[in-house]
Amino acid sequence: MLDVTTQKIQDESRQGEAYAPFENDPNNYSKKFYIESYGCQMNFSDSEIVASILADSGFGATRNYEEADLILLNTCSIREKAEQTVRKRLNDLRKVKDNNPGALIGVLGCMAERLKAKLLEEEKLVDMVVGPDAYRTLPGLVEEAETGQKAVNVLLSREETYADISPVRLDSNGITAFVSIMRGCNNMCSFCVVPFTRGRERSRDTQSIIAECRNLFENGYKEVTLLGQNVDSYYWLPNSPEAVKPVTFAELLEQVALIDPDLRVRFSTSHPKDITDDVLFTMAKYENICKYIHLPVQSGSTRVLQLMNRTYTREWYLAKVDRIREIMPDCGISSDIIAGFCTETEEEHQDTLSLMAYSKYDLSYMFFYSERPGTLAARRYTDDIPEEVKKRRLDEIVKLQNQMSLESNQKDLGKTFKVLIEGNSKKSDADWKGRNSQNKMIVFPKTNPSLTPGSYVNVLITECTGATLIGNIVD
Ligand code: SAH
Ligand code: SF4
Ligand code: F3S
Repeated sequence: MLDVTTQKIQDESRQGEAYAPFENDPNNYSKKFYIESYGCQMNFSDSEIVASILADSGFGATRNYEEADLILLNTCSIREKAEQTVRKRLNDLRKVKDNNPGALIGVLGCMAERLKAKLLEEEKLVDMVVGPDAYRTLPGLVEEAETGQKAVNVLLSREETYADISPVRLDSNGITAFVSIMRGCNNMCSFCVVPFTRGRERSRDTQSIIAECRNLFENGYKEVTLLGQNVDSYYWLPNSPEAVKPVTFAELLEQVALIDPDLRVRFSTSHPKDITDDVLFTMAKYENICKYIHLPVQSGSTRVLQLMNRTYTREWYLAKVDRIREIMPDCGISSDIIAGFCTETEEEHQDTLSLMAYSKYDLSYMFFYSERPGTLAARRYTDDIPEEVKKRRLDEIVKLQNQMSLESNQKDLGKTFKVLIEGNSKKSDADWKGRNSQNKMIVFPKTNPSLTPGSYVNVLITECTGATLIGNIVD
């Protein structure tokens, strides 16, 4: 197994899923576009911005790429495999283009930004290459491409946050939504391509975030996830003469939580160096801020962390985990882990396993190191851990996590959780699925016909697997 993910955010099962219109009827539009999203939730969220920009210039979304005038792939560069997936998909699209030569093919997102115009040379069928900060220029680029010219805009911006654009919610369940609060990343972790593909970090206007969240709630949504590569460094200085104080992430969280006690708030991702006591105390103070933190560690070895430029040590990270548990004993914690980073020894790999065991993650996203061109690590270090060693280490990490996920779920047997119903369970229309505050998926039979998606219920847990809790509604 190469990349191993078990759930949400970078859910492999959702990669490339065709996102279709939810709010806009394609028959109202003169032209149709089709979009597939890859990578992290930021990309899925950006596709909703793209849908909004395209709707304004007469494009409605379709699920069927064979009838589309414009086919878009919103791409990811995080690991080599992510790019290979997109290359394969472009290959499939050759047939579509043969049948419908008028259709335009556009590559958006991080791979567009990384490869720029080179992508046009490498993939002849691509008509447009558009980076993550250039989506406002899409209508013009489409017009350019319609005349037979190749169109490229990969300019990164220091200001663009798409704050004023109301996303068109694609394939939404109508209950949970993602709200982007910042873009880019300044952290320069040595393995990571994101600072190059997404540019400098910038925060979005607080008022526009609150307005979007309030609007979602008024339209029946019950949960918002505030999104950014590094949400804890959110910082907004209001543009008014009397405002002297910047808004921090803790304050933003509080403002969103205050919209309504029935609106749940989540956020992702936290960098361990930036999550403050203020954030933890704000989480503890409001019942509707979910008790769940994604706190990627990457490695359990201080030396490797240093090479990764993560700026914390093993001890510092573990103290943060202790602090979270001290302030919120019931808080769920998950992580991202990279196996086989440059020069990682067997002992350092063991350090990762022991850190995981201490942290008792409920869930982890686990990867083996994939060198990305242009990153600090690619320039400075040799990718010297043989693939079979990386895979074996990853395998050990995955085994430990699976065992810990099961143990974590077993501890919940006999407990009752407040669950937000999101929809039918994957396996049966006779069951609901929803999540508890700790972000665990819970499946339970439909008993009360007056309940609908968006209802809160109390569920007593009676059974579990490593991935799901199973139970029954109680009063
Ligand atoms: N901003 C988030 C991470 C975004 S990328 C954060 O800092 O936590 C998601 C995850 O992909 C990272 O946490 C890391 O575990 C993994 N990743 C990033 N670059 C990688 C690479 N070159 N090889 C393998 N995994 C990588
Ligand atoms: Fe990449 Fe590090 Fe920024 Fe996360 S914090 S996006 S891993 S550079
Ligand atoms: Fe991938 Fe870009 Fe997200 S590289 S993980 S889509 S920020």
